[in-house]
Amino acid sequence: MILKCENISKHYGLFKKPVLANINLSLDEGKKMILTGTSGSGKNTLLKILALIDLSFKGKYYIDDKNVNKIDPSPLRKKISYVYQEYGLLENESVYENIKLGILYDNLSKAEINSRCEKILKLLELDGFHKRRVNLLSGGQRQRVALARAIIRDSES
Ligand SMILES: Nc1ncnc2c1ncn2[C@@H]1O[C@H](COP(=O)(O)OP(=O)(O)OP(=O)(O)O)[C@@H](O)[C@H]1O
Ligand SMILES: [Mg+2]
Repeated sequence: MILKCENISKHYGLFKKPVLANINLSLDEGKKMILTGTSGSGKNTLLKILALIDLSFKGKYYIDDKNVNKIDPSPLRKKISYVYQEYGLLENESVYENIKLGILYDNLSKAEINSRCEKILKLLELDGFHKRRVNLLSGGQRQRVALARAIIRDSES
């Protein structure tokens, strides 16, 4: 995918000062980008726009030359993963139930879901934790569950 932002600006509600003002960037297929900035400078605000979680912004955002505000973003959303800074985990559910959410709407067989979960748990050194409730995990373990949920779609069994 090729991402391109033209003059992206973002205001939250009635707050006068924009959090983002005229952001321009482009990111080619296969390239990596690191976003840095002081606390509160708008990194997550921009990332949520890039991940199509927030579509209320000014300016233009193109994915593969398509203006995301002019198309149905649902198919593109399936191709983008996002790890929430606060993780956004279901606290009273197991590691397995949380990770499974990453492929909830992918119409996979139960066997495929199980085998993907198993693989990703191994990869992120969480094997043995699949039945553990998330609110009984350490900070680093929770972080890896959030990451697993984000990348499980790209994994194959
Ligand atoms: N939903 C919201 N409504 C109103 N203001 C918000 C909202 N979300 C974030 N903000 C404000 O927008 C600014 C940017 O927030 P954002 O989360 O993008 O910052 P950040 O760069 O990721 O910060 P940090 O490094 O602390 O995680 C902050 O001043 C924050 O208070
Ligand atoms: Mg942040």
